[in-house]
Amino acid sequence: MRVLITGSKGQVGHCLTEQLKSHSNAQVLALDSKGLDITDQSAVQAAVNEFKPTIIINAAAYTAVDRAEDEVDLAYAINRDGAKYLAEAAQSVNAAILHISTDYVFSGDKEGMYTEADLTSPQGIYGESKLAGEKAVIEACPRHIILRTAWVFGERGNNFVKTMLRLAKTHDTLGIVGDQFGGPTYAGDIASALVAIAKVIFNGGEDKFGIYHFSGFPHVSWCQFAQAVFDEAVEQGALNKSPIVNSITTADYPTPAKRPANSALSTALIKDKFGIDASDWKAALQNIKAYINI
Ligand SMILES: NC(=O)c1ccc[n+]([C@@H]2O[C@H](COP(=O)([O-])OP(=O)(O)OC[C@H]3O[C@@H](n4cnc5c(N)ncnc54)[C@H](OP(=O)(O)O)[C@@H]3O)[C@@H](O)[C@H]2O)c1
Repeated sequence: MRVLITGSKGQVGHCLTEQLKSHSNAQVLALDSKGLDITDQSAVQAAVNEFKPTIIINAAAYTAVDRAEDEVDLAYAINRDGAKYLAEAAQSVNAAILHISTDYVFSGDKEGMYTEADLTSPQGIYGESKLAGEKAVIEACPRHIILRTAWVFGERGNNFVKTMLRLAKTHDTLGIVGDQFGGPTYAGDIASALVAIAKVIFNGGEDKFGIYHFSGFPHVSWCQFAQAVFDEAVEQGALNKSPIVNSITTADYPTPAKRPANSALSTALIKDKFGIDASDWKAALQNIKAYINI
């Protein structure tokens, strides 16, 4: 298969590129934001015409949730228009598109896990622009997979795990939000899921297109996730001692963008259709020293 990856230097894009490049049956063109700006429609079409991918994986996105409230046009340009240009280009060469989306398409008001059939209702610009991207991809390219994920962390890039480890060096006590729940998801596991899906699609899985949820399990609060990070870091000798973690409320920690209180995604469908298990985020933390100093 010939796979074009966009956003190749992001958390997911990096893992995806590493995994696919060591895959013997894949010819890979991995482009970062400098190599291909997905908001440049003619550049997107030219790259696709030249490489002729069988699968495009869009790991590029505008992910600054709070800044998006001010940078509305930029968020939409990348998350909606860029996704649309890639999907149109995919359709023009009969490629499939694998596009990553987010738990932030939901309000977070549901009791219980969100399934793919649940109504969307984003609470901020980031979620709205990502939902607009989903719709644009669905409309432009019938051969699509939309993979909604949540709470992404990995060894590279900025994420909650790295922030916690940094704060632990300078704080004895930390107040962390305890009334938002979700599934921390390891970027490497998202990459593995995308590679597995790409293989199925390439090998004729034409009945599998659609929207899927993929995130981590067990579901926890940010506060519980932080404590798990510190416990693992102490266990592995990466921290001398854990800071004291106090649970605070969302109201105690106001942010420009509203976050869903419940981000828990059901991963039953992806297990059923592709045999893919939820991300084992606790296992991914066993490698905790790799999250320091990168
Ligand atoms: N991070 C999370 O917690 C989270 C949660 C749920 C869903 N997601 C979704 O998961 C996917 C991957 O997220 P991630 O955490 O890997 O994001 P990330 O680390 O922020 O990476 C996004 C990448 O997109 C690139 N990019 C931005 N604008 C671009 C453009 N115009 N053209 C091409 N590339 C561009 C960025 O490059 P530069 O750095 O050079 O701008 C960056 O390398 C996204 O679709 C995101 O919405 C993420």
